[in-house]
Amino acid sequence: MINNFKNFLLKENSNKEVNFVKFNDNVYKLSINGDVIGSTYLQDAKKFTMFKSIIDLLPDELKDKKVLGIGELGLMNKYQGQGYGKILMDNIIRIAKSQNYDVLVLSVSSENERAINLYKSFNFEIFRDGFVKYMFLDLKGV
Ligand SMILES: CC(C)(COP(=O)(O)OP(=O)(O)OC[C@H]1O[C@@H](n2cnc3c(N)ncnc32)[C@H](O)[C@@H]1OP(=O)(O)O)[C@@H](O)C(=O)NCCC(=O)NCCS
Repeated sequence: MINNFKNFLLKENSNKEVNFVKFNDNVYKLSINGDVIGSTYLQDAKKFTMFKSIIDLLPDELKDKKVLGIGELGLMNKYQGQGYGKILMDNIIRIAKSQNYDVLVLSVSSENERAINLYKSFNFEIFRDGFVKYMFLDLKGV
């Protein structure tokens, strides 16, 4: 299934067309006016071994939930630091909700302040802290 969110516009740049499109089984690409500027992959976290350590550490109350794992989220260099990460995450949340996921999970290096700030601005919470932070977002009410 192709998920194509047309005309989800940047507030400050309302003339730009933003698309978040499923590229293959798990990879999604974000484009602005036809140029790919970022990507991520999204996987059912309980079905893929790369998310096993995150699932194992999830708080008990979330263990029975439908969990979507976010991996390799990133923007091309020249598009970083301009707020496009918010559009990426807005679209990930749309996809997750449309597929009836309850929770998003990800891991991020504790040195990656920009990414952590982005996730916190979406109300992600840290459930395990260290060199790597494990974070989740409960989609109920989002
Ligand atoms: C992480 C990433 C997706 C964030 O997207 P972005 O559009 O560049 O981020 P933004 O410009 O919206 O900044 C996000 C927040 O961090 C803050 N921020 C920006 N630069 C920062 C910095 N150098 N240090 C700390 N905080 C910073 C911003 O102020 C913003 O917070 P605000 O919304 O409260 O103002 C993007 O920078 C990226 O692709 N980085 C390289 C790959 C990567 O690190 N991916 C994450 C893997 S877990």
